[in-house]
This record gives sequence, structure tokens and C-alpha cells, in this order.
Amino acid sequence: MTSKVEFVKSVVSPDQLPRERLPEIAFAGRSNVGKSSLINRLLARPGLARTSKTPGRTQALNYFRITPPDGPDFFLVDMPGFGFAKVNVQIRRRWEHLIEQYLQTRETLCAVVHLVDLRHPPQPLDYAMVAWLRHYDIPFLIVGTKADKIARTKVPETLLQIAETLNVDSRDTIAFSSETGAGRDELWQWVMETVSEGQNV
Ligand code: GTP
Ligand code: MG
Repeated sequence: MTSKVEFVKSVVSPDQLPRERLPEIAFAGRSNVGKSSLINRLLARPGLARTSKTPGRTQALNYFRITPPDGPDFFLVDMPGFGFAKVNVQIRRRWEHLIEQYLQTRETLCAVVHLVDLRHPPQPLDYAMVAWLRHYDIPFLIVGTKADKIARTKVPETLLQIAETLNVDSRDTIAFSSETGAGRDELWQWVMETVSEGQNV
């Protein structure tokens, strides 16, 4: 059985965050790392979250409400990509403010899935995000994206290198491909466990 999935809203300022208290999981990472593609694959809904070859496509926190066949409702949040140089300073500040406010104050946030492209070593903004999540004591998972773009035999060691570089336990990492669906079942299981633990938010 598949989940019911509904787009709720695009949030561009903290006062627009949904009032409804459901457990939520947010997906973060640099622009173009594959957040929207991953959400579409995870939910088996091509075209749900808008993807693009142009970085900076997702400019808001996009809320999706999920009704799984076998558990309580929850929200998945597609976060705006960071580190995109071409947006103007004013827009970038607004994003930064939104993301900062969100991570600091969102009580119903159970965990953040932070995406890193398997083809590149983690960048300064990835370190910053991990430090930020630790600082605010937000549980997180590292997902290595675009696994189809590297040799299959290289995936485990590449993921391990990323875990070591970010000083993260390798058990808190998953390799994923939105192209092939690799990692999808493992990630879904993690999502279901995480939201059921966060049910009393
Ligand atoms: P922003 O919204 O700009 O932050 O980007 P995003 O992180 O949501 O990335 P998005 O999902 O839009 O994907 C960016 C590009 O990477 C698109 O051209 C996708 O088709 C491609 N892409 C994403 N995931 C994968 C993957 O697993 N494999 C391959 N081969 N391409 C991918
Ligand atoms: Mg996106």
C-alpha cells in the first residue's frame, strides 16, 4: 500500500509555518544536491517536488503532508538549497534568516536529513550545517546522493569517507540514487522510525 501525499504550502517567512503539530523531517543540503528528486523518489511521486538543472529552484520551505498506510501523519519539508552564489544578497539573507529561525524554533522538527553529493568531498557549508545541527541538538542523517553517478563498488567507501570527514557515525549515513531508487527502502524505514518516535510532539 502506498502513502497519501499532499502538498500543503510553500513557506517563505517564519510566521507562515504550519500551526498543526505533526512530526516533521526536513531535507537540507547545497543547491542541486538532489533534495527534491530524493523526495519524489522516496514518495514515488515523480514531479511532486519541483526539480531543476538550475540551482536555487526551491526558494521556500515546501511542506508535504504524508499519510502512510500504517502510521500517523507527518510532514516532509523540502528546504531551500544553500550555497547558490547567483542569488542576490537580499534574497540570500532572507533564506538564511528563514532557515535559522526554522532550525532554532521548530519544536515539531524530529530530524534533518542532510544531503551530500557522493561525487564531491563535503564543502564548508556542509560542515557548517552539521555543526549547526549539533549545536541545536537536532538529530540528523547524512544521505550521499547521486549514487548512480559513481561506480557501485565505490559507494560504501565513498560514504565512509564522507562520514569520517564530517565526523559522523557511519551508521547515520545512507547512499541514495533518485535515478535507480537505491537506498529508498532504507531511508523510508528510517523516516518511519523517526516520525513514530517523534509522535508526541
Ligand atoms: P535546489 O532546489 O536548487 O536546492 O536543488 P535540489 O537539491 O532540490 O536538486 P534537484 O532535486 O532539483 O536535482 C538537481 C539536479 O540533479 C537535477 O538535474 C536532477 O535530475 C539531478 N539529480 C538529482 N538526484 C539525482 C540522482 O540521484 N542521480 C542523478 N543522476 N541525477 C540526480
Ligand atoms: Mg529543490
